[in-house]
Amino acid sequence: MRIADRIVEIRSAVQRARGNGSTVGLVPTMGALHAGHASLIERAAAVDDFVVVSVFVNPTQFGPAEDFDAYPRRLQEDASIAAEHGAHLVFAPTVEEMYPPGASTFVEVEGLTANLCGAVRPGHFRGVTTVVGKLFNIVAPDRAYFGEKDYQQMLVISKMVRDMHMPVEVVACPTVRETDGLAMSSRNAYLTAEQRAAAPAIRRGLLAGERVVKQGGSASEAVQTAIAQIATEPILKVQYVEAVDPETLTRPDHNGAPMLLAAAVFAGDTRLIDNIVVEG
Ligand code: PAJ
Repeated sequence: MRIADRIVEIRSAVQRARGNGSTVGLVPTMGALHAGHASLIERAAAVDDFVVVSVFVNPTQFGPAEDFDAYPRRLQEDASIAAEHGAHLVFAPTVEEMYPPGASTFVEVEGLTANLCGAVRPGHFRGVTTVVGKLFNIVAPDRAYFGEKDYQQMLVISKMVRDMHMPVEVVACPTVRETDGLAMSSRNAYLTAEQRAAAPAIRRGLLAGERVVKQGGSASEAVQTAIAQIATEPILKVQYVEAVDPETLTRPDHNGAPMLLAAAVFAGDTRLIDNIVVEG
């Protein structure tokens, strides 16, 4: 598997592929690849002829007290996983390659970034949309693949593409889980055995919230039920559980409308997120 760290290399590889009539798929990641990432790569390889996986721990989406330095970096292993699942090229640029000295241009999506993770991680989505916008300019893919595990991110990127007329199709892919229901995440590697054993309560909480809605309960009853279920594991600290409209991420306007139940929970210093869309 070829690992390219320069933008010029990517541009010429993509140009060559396009010259052969290939469509191009991009799977943006921060590495430490797991089965969730692998499912995106497989989906891309099933649809597009030439698949680029980017591996870049993007400094601008981390807050000052967050885990940028600690974030797991294992490029060689990532490249093997990417190849195994059908990728053709890995793009792993340096920070200097992605952010030329003095770079002062950012992409910001307003509105959709105000709630949920946007409210508790100021500047996070600005960093995400800026780096994904750069990746779209560098790779110029036909399609880009994102996981529903990061539901708000997927929605914010779709909005950016629409608002900025970016010629990319955003493909949303379902969340891949461990057998006990925990959503796969590169950050699960931080968990102690005790935290790992408690973490599936997040999924159980969201499923309990879903049941409440399906039985005619209100959004706030669903949220309270989810919080109570998660609280059965005292090692977990809820940052937020919210029920919102899955398109606007604001308060659902009537009973019976589709609803996104989203949670962010700390296990020690490790922040875990998950969500479930409850159909109306
Ligand atoms: P990262 O957390 O590495 O995730 C890369 C992609 O994999 C995202 O689209 C994410 O939603 C998806 N993903 C992660 N866990 C998943 C799971 N369990 N099931 C399905 N998909 C999953 O998200 C980022 O990186 C960054 O913010 C990025 C978009 C690369 C910008 O820096």
